[in-house]
Amino acid sequence: IGRKIIHLPEVDSTNEYAKLIALDEREGTVVVADRQTAGKGRKGRTWASPEGGLWMSVILKPKAEPKHLPTLVFIGALAVVDTLWKFGIEAGIKWPNDVWVNGRKICGVLTEGRIREFVILGIGLNVNNEVPEELRKIATSMREFLGREVSLSEAFHTLIRNLDHWYGLFLDRRYGEIISALKERSIVLGKEVKIIDDETELVGRAVDIDVDGALILETPKGRVRVLHGDVSLRFL
Ligand code: BTN
Repeated sequence: IGRKIIHLPEVDSTNEYAKLIALDEREGTVVVADRQTAGKGRKGRTWASPEGGLWMSVILKPKAEPKHLPTLVFIGALAVVDTLWKFGIEAGIKWPNDVWVNGRKICGVLTEGRIREFVILGIGLNVNNEVPEELRKIATSMREFLGREVSLSEAFHTLIRNLDHWYGLFLDRRYGEIISALKERSIVLGKEVKIIDDETELVGRAVDIDVDGALILETPKGRVRVLHGDVSLRFL
């Protein structure tokens, strides 16, 4: 990962750009932009991407069976958590695809793709960028946590190395190790949560994450398995 890096001063969305070039690029090519004019979050939300943050997308072409592809989102979150720890920031994973620090979101991961062709692993990490006023209560940045600017290029290169490590395990089909790491770094296990999936809501205690990355909830009606497709998770 990162043998080829396409660095753009500005782009609508690195995920969109990566999708356009994915078929012509080799696996591991990274698209990174100083700022995005139309950064995308999950569920059609926008992602604030001013200068100073790390906005990047990795083109992956795994030959794994489609049922394992959802695990790739965890690769992104694990690599970010390891990167933050390297900078002395105690971060954890809010299943399925956010990285949180001190009760606030510092990073989001967005995977998109075409089955059997490519997967785009998009990562947005607040580094030195300003967090928009309306998000201050729920979002933070590395700079805010550490009280100083950090080297964006050091954060970027550390993240690439960590992505390489976790993606290597994925290619070796060591899914069990990926899931145990995810559980170790998870901030949801043992907590009361609400899962929101379009119209339906489900409340329970998060007790486990299974081999497929599904969250196991203990509800008044028994155990329920929640796949991480398009659901949102809130703490109660
Ligand atoms: C989320 O938490 O909703 C996911 C946010 C993902 C943001 C990143 S920034 C780089 C890449 N390009 C995008 O347009 N989105 C992802």
